[in-house]
Amino acid sequence: MYILAPSLLAADFGHLAEQVKAVEDAGAKYLHLDVMDGAFVPSISFGMPVLKSLRSCTGLVFDVHMMVEEPGRYIQDIKDSGADLICVHQEACVHLDRTVSQIKEAGLKVAVALNPATPVSTLEYILPELDMALIMSVNPGFGGQKFIPYALDKVRCLREMAEKKNPSLDIQVDGGVTAGNVRDLMEAGANVFVAGSAVFQGDAAANVKEFLDVFRQYEALS
Ligand code: DX5
Ligand code: ZN
Repeated sequence: MYILAPSLLAADFGHLAEQVKAVEDAGAKYLHLDVMDGAFVPSISFGMPVLKSLRSCTGLVFDVHMMVEEPGRYIQDIKDSGADLICVHQEACVHLDRTVSQIKEAGLKVAVALNPATPVSTLEYILPELDMALIMSVNPGFGGQKFIPYALDKVRCLREMAEKKNPSLDIQVDGGVTAGNVRDLMEAGANVFVAGSAVFQGDAAANVKEFLDVFRQYEALS
């Protein structure tokens, strides 16, 4: 199944509830929430109070991308704010196995993200424990950046590894994803797509529908 996860970071923060409703009504299933701490990444975005307020406005799956040093410190707080899935960075967790276990013990879905320069092989042993792995296709911290083409090779390599170690693994891609390049990512083996500017710049509902059309066309062929 192919899933679109609009990234709230690119929404109009003065009208968050309406923007979220627009993408939900247009057929998106996930809402990607980028939590940044100003330490793991240069920027600071939003945290628990924003998640909590939005939780009562929508039924979308809350996919929380933690760009935070040692995110294990916040698992319970993020859960209490309404998260369904927590994604932590491999580079931000000294004891990744422990952090992954904490998320699972909290009853949430778990994902691990890799920065562009981090090899896929770093996930080899943890892969069977994961619901999803995230290939960053920009350096994390900001929306609206250009897609890094070698991310496609990383998706292929990860899908190959997942076939042996975790066949039902979701592979997510985040950064510079558009309705124009998403098909290449699907062919490479990804199935969950984060899009910030490509959704919220212009008409969000029409942009979501454009992505969903690409998914439908590809599914009809395969
Ligand atoms: C970047 C964030 C992304 C960001 C994507 O660090 O993780 O989720 O919102 O934005 P676009 O789709 O504009 O590249
Ligand atoms: Zn993100």
